[in-house]
Amino acid sequence: MYSLEGAKTLDEQDELRSFRAQFYIPERDGKQLIYFCGHSLGLQPKATAEYINQELEDWSKLGVEGHFKAKHPWLHYHTFFSKSLAALVGAKPSEVIAMNSLTVNLHLLLTSFYRPTGKRVKIIMEANSFSSDVYAVYSQIKLHGLSPKKVVIELKPRKNEYTLRMEDIAKTIHSAGNELSLVMMSGVNYLTGQAYDIEAITKAAHKVGAKAGFDLAHSIGNTPLSLHKWGVDFAVWCSYKYLNSGPGAVGGAYIHERYASGKTLHRLAGWWGHDETERFLMKPEFKPSPGAAGWQLSNAPVFNMCAHRASLDIFDAAGMKAIVKKSRSMVTYLEDMLVARCNKEMGYAIRIITPRSIDERGNQLSIMVHKEAQQLFNLISDAGFVCDYRHPNIIRVAVAPLYNSYEEVYHFATFMAEHCKYVS
Ligand SMILES: Cc1ncc(COP(=O)(O)O)c(C=O)c1O
Repeated sequence: MYSLEGAKTLDEQDELRSFRAQFYIPERDGKQLIYFCGHSLGLQPKATAEYINQELEDWSKLGVEGHFKAKHPWLHYHTFFSKSLAALVGAKPSEVIAMNSLTVNLHLLLTSFYRPTGKRVKIIMEANSFSSDVYAVYSQIKLHGLSPKKVVIELKPRKNEYTLRMEDIAKTIHSAGNELSLVMMSGVNYLTGQAYDIEAITKAAHKVGAKAGFDLAHSIGNTPLSLHKWGVDFAVWCSYKYLNSGPGAVGGAYIHERYASGKTLHRLAGWWGHDETERFLMKPEFKPSPGAAGWQLSNAPVFNMCAHRASLDIFDAAGMKAIVKKSRSMVTYLEDMLVARCNKEMGYAIRIITPRSIDERGNQLSIMVHKEAQQLFNLISDAGFVCDYRHPNIIRVAVAPLYNSYEEVYHFATFMAEHCKYVS
């Protein structure tokens, strides 16, 4: 049923196939690796160097005048991302901003959106939230003089299950009721690959008078998002995973336009968030720029952000619709092939814990290995596949529609079939 020819035919029919040539594919001993690690660090677009060189050239030739006269004037650099980011997260251009890094942005927005008052102090989070989110949330709670242990309500899967059920999330929100201040979740969980129903979670939070914020590190450039329509209060992300903008690349933030004036919110302010028309008057009183731009602190790190531009230009050209279509098709192909072909007696016992429904996942499959996961991971790596291992027993594999092929998926699943037994 699954053949190399079949995989090659799928590649020939793939409308995004030409994009692979726009990326550098890492090699080992002169041979291309099969790279399934876009959930951790996306690959380098070949165009990135040109974008960086342009800024270097402008700096060398123009010095300070580059702020106005560079090909992409540095003074306005943050505005060059609004349209593309808005398309990726389903927002208005004024609701998004490229700035800082994910955890910094999370702190900035928790400062604005987590304002515990009276009984309304609680925060709902996933029990397996990414560590940095936990540190950020816990430290913010402590800043308010509260105890994280008393404030945080953890969402945990049911016994013998690995992912959350929407009905349980809704029930937890409902039960917290008027004690709930904030639901702070990921869009796609980094460990399990589960994509949550952001719209339903936001609605449930609003119904009890709470706010809903999301960490979209594993969602942006991966799953379809309509943050504005869903009424999400705020969101943050990084751009070095699916957005291929390079290690430590600039992060981003979304703030719903209902907070555009920002007058009712507390915030940590900096000069780049000040109303643009009078930023250089250096007045002592802070007057925020309308929209997400008002949360900026500092002027744009241009050499970092130009790599982001190089990448977003590729996303603009490909379009999220085609990316999501291919991602869903490829990840289903991978799962079906693993389930059908991994039946090696005495092989490593594996199971996929990522939900099967395409609405509940993006392009990552989390493979649980029942014993000796590290050993299996080493075998996979030695064979030239790049994915990653999360202690104690999860191997994460992500297919990136812009540079992965069905043929690569075929080779990976074939390799797994030689070593594993699928257990459900
Ligand atoms: C889900 C999630 N949240 C937060 C972070 C931290 O991001 P940063 O180092 O850009 O602050 C990461 C990093 O991989 C992540 O995967």
